[in-house]
Amino acid sequence: MSLPDNTTEPTAAPVVVARDLKQVYKISRGFMHPADHLQAVSGVSFTVLPGKTLAVVGESGCGKSTLARMVSLIEVPTSGELSLGGVDVVKASAAERHALRRTVQLVFQNPFGSLNPRKKIGAILEAPLEINTTLDTKTRAEQARAMLALVGLRPEHYDRYPHMFSGGQRQRIAIARALMLKPALIVADEPVSALDVSIQAQVLNLLADLQQELGLAYLFISHDLGVVRHIAHDVLVMYLGHAVEQGEKKTVFAQPLHPYTQALLASTPGIVGTGAAKQRIVLTGELPSPLNPPSGCVFSTRCPHVTAQCHNERPVLRMLAGRQVACHLAEQFIQPAAAQH
Ligand SMILES: Nc1ncnc2c1ncn2[C@@H]1O[C@H](COP(=O)(O)OP(=O)(O)O)[C@@H](O)[C@H]1O
Ligand SMILES: [Mg+2]
Repeated sequence: MSLPDNTTEPTAAPVVVARDLKQVYKISRGFMHPADHLQAVSGVSFTVLPGKTLAVVGESGCGKSTLARMVSLIEVPTSGELSLGGVDVVKASAAERHALRRTVQLVFQNPFGSLNPRKKIGAILEAPLEINTTLDTKTRAEQARAMLALVGLRPEHYDRYPHMFSGGQRQRIAIARALMLKPALIVADEPVSALDVSIQAQVLNLLADLQQELGLAYLFISHDLGVVRHIAHDVLVMYLGHAVEQGEKKTVFAQPLHPYTQALLASTPGIVGTGAAKQRIVLTGELPSPLNPPSGCVFSTRCPHVTAQCHNERPVLRMLAGRQVACHLAEQFIQPAAAQH
């Protein structure tokens, strides 16, 4: 698998900057009861540069899709800062938000649900151009056909319906549609999770090739670190709405310093952990409800290393050994350099 070469200049302006993003949902408990507040995302910060992939990982219910909806402008954050291509999304006017919508496109897990079964592929690809541009019919058709080729589909597929395609081909169509308006950022929410492992690799290769060719930035969401290993430059590990560890993929994978990251890596087939991740930490128990998060460290109810401090004091993200980690005990998981080999 070829990862895009790091040819972007270090000075390239970020495609996305998020600072302390939060999303709180009001849950109605019925008439006469005060609403509950569910913190789905509790203050997450990150930057994505052109040509780079930030992978957001964590179990189901950790807030990944909520983050995806904020970054793709489907939901407004409850608080925090978010800018796309240098434009502040929260303060933007309606016209600016409309223009920004073109620069970020979503690819979902389930390509069956997202493609209109009554429309031919050509019409599906041309719809975004019809709605958002003044291009004439002939130009729209040309661009749709060129896009089919770019995502590895054949010219005759233009006149076929979605049900005539396999799952992997349908995901290629969804990717093609997302690219029609030449976005700077693709938010991909579990884009290969519904596909067979052999097909997953093909779609991941396609995404990597498209990134290299078009300089795309990806916010790539997955619960599967085996998938993330192939595609990510940076990783953001989320637990119960909080970022618990984030940094360059190679740094985090080589020596995870948060027990949650260690547990995720240890449970991923094919990834041989080093240091602390070599111990088979098995995640036991359920993810706590975000309506009633643990006091202190959010991971304290499932952590094998938990101490009294962890129950009382919430650890903040801090820089340690080249990445950011939110764990009181992280120092004890650092392996001396010599011991890593
Ligand atoms: N619209 C909503 N209203 C209320 N709660 C929500 C809403 N969307 C998500 N949640 C809750 O927010 C938490 C995070 O959900 P989600 O972002 O879908 O996580 P993930 O994608 O990591 O599985 C979950 O507890 C979920 O039930
Ligand atoms: Mg999700």
